[in-house]
Amino acid sequence: MTRILFVCLGNICRSPTAEAAMRRLVQARGLQGSVEVDSAGTGNWHVGESPDERATATARRRGLTLDGRARQVSAEDFERFDLILAMDGSNANDLRRLAPDEKSAGKVRLLREFEPDAVDASGRSEAEGGGDLDVPDPYFGGSDGFERVIDLVTAACEGVLDSLGLQAGTRR
Ligand code: 4NP
Repeated sequence: MTRILFVCLGNICRSPTAEAAMRRLVQARGLQGSVEVDSAGTGNWHVGESPDERATATARRRGLTLDGRARQVSAEDFERFDLILAMDGSNANDLRRLAPDEKSAGKVRLLREFEPDAVDASGRSEAEGGGDLDVPDPYFGGSDGFERVIDLVTAACEGVLDSLGLQAGTRR
């Protein structure tokens, strides 16, 4: 069993979307017994709330169901999960600071590191000196931001499963 935790700031927009996208991919590959997913936020402002209504509506149109309630990352998460996937560089820094030890800090990665051919906001890849591989925070923007989150996290989650060697029918 591989346990994956998606983390953003509020746990109401990006990480619940990534969790739902990954859950769908896991089902599509028949990996329900091999991969477990959850999400959390580094901040505590929205703890106990349902996912953002705009994120939920956009996701629904794309066939994804956002559920659960926002929660904050805890020390136990660093024990429980094998991979802790941050939506942006700021989330990754916060997570590494919160990690109780080196081993836990080593579980923290940027989600989009796993996206094949990822490019930054100016269209440059890492090899071309591209900048951040953030999933941009859609909270203060328009509806296209929420669409973009779904595109980015879906491509990256495919990459995560590929990198773990979890193709359809794989048993782990
Ligand atoms: P998320 O989006 O980190 O993708 O859940 C945000 C949600 C709330 C806030 C910021 C980002 N906020 O400032 O309250």
